[in-house]
Amino acid sequence: MDIAVIGSNMVDLVSYIDKIPNEGETLEAADFKIGCGGKGANQAVAAAKMGSKVMMVTKVGDDLFADRTIENLESYGIDTEFTSKIPGTSSGVAPIFVDRESKNRILIIKGANQYLLPEDIDHAAKKLKKSSLIVLQLEIPIQTTYRAIEFGKENGIPIILNPAPAAKKLDFDYVRKCDYFIPNESELELLTGMPVESKDQIRTAASTLLEKGLKNVIVTMGSRGVMWVKSEKIFTVDSYKVDAIDTTGAGDAFIGCFAHFLVQSGDVLLAIKMATAFAALSVVKQGTQTSYPSVQELEQFIKTQS
Ligand code: RIB
Ligand code: NA
Repeated sequence: MDIAVIGSNMVDLVSYIDKIPNEGETLEAADFKIGCGGKGANQAVAAAKMGSKVMMVTKVGDDLFADRTIENLESYGIDTEFTSKIPGTSSGVAPIFVDRESKNRILIIKGANQYLLPEDIDHAAKKLKKSSLIVLQLEIPIQTTYRAIEFGKENGIPIILNPAPAAKKLDFDYVRKCDYFIPNESELELLTGMPVESKDQIRTAASTLLEKGLKNVIVTMGSRGVMWVKSEKIFTVDSYKVDAIDTTGAGDAFIGCFAHFLVQSGDVLLAIKMATAFAALSVVKQGTQTSYPSVQELEQFIKTQS
């Protein structure tokens, strides 16, 4: 097993809109798509599409979305032995609104994701121990994420923590044990309480996390690229200029692709560059997982851009 994703899955209900209705107002929207999403599952799919062997520890509900979600993961070759159903519960769903500027607003109803518990990690321990990297986010109970960090440490498995959705407070006794901490700008802002308008400010905010004991902070900055801060060193990778139509799941695209190339090459900068291209391709198509490119598409894109 290359990568273990311990995290969420959701069904994305995406409306493409001109305007959010006001109270009491009914408006028509241009388009609607339903697709498999959730930050954990998106990251798992991105890594699997690049060729990693991925397992996912996650919970689905007891509804029409449950089997569809499992089938979807399996269609990408993801190991679902530890993807299980919670009776009497709805699957996680995410109503998403994407406007003409490709900006999104996301609501999440966690459903079964709330029942992914610390003991589920111990239950999957035998298989998890075979993985080369653990990937975590924040759409499941925080105690489960903390248990996963401990598990990774106990077993010498490197950990990526993507602190999404944004959290105001995290327990750094756990968080500092993660090898790669990958927030976007707004997640960095909320967590540090510091401004993130300029790149200098982002660097300063990221440095405070290094002071708290983190080793690698990689900030995804959308069209401004990616900043990797590691002790005194900082590296920036520019983004690609593309016509974005739906940026939903672009952060997850980055994480999953980064995880893949990190495991394959051990070269962080290379992994950031590949993930930047992968995420750029994801924003020119509608949807989350459905917008992720294949290996061939990624290679072709990089060739034409260089
Ligand atoms: O990061 C994008 C994801 O956030 C969507 O797929 C949605 O399900 C929410 O989890
Ligand atoms: Na997309």
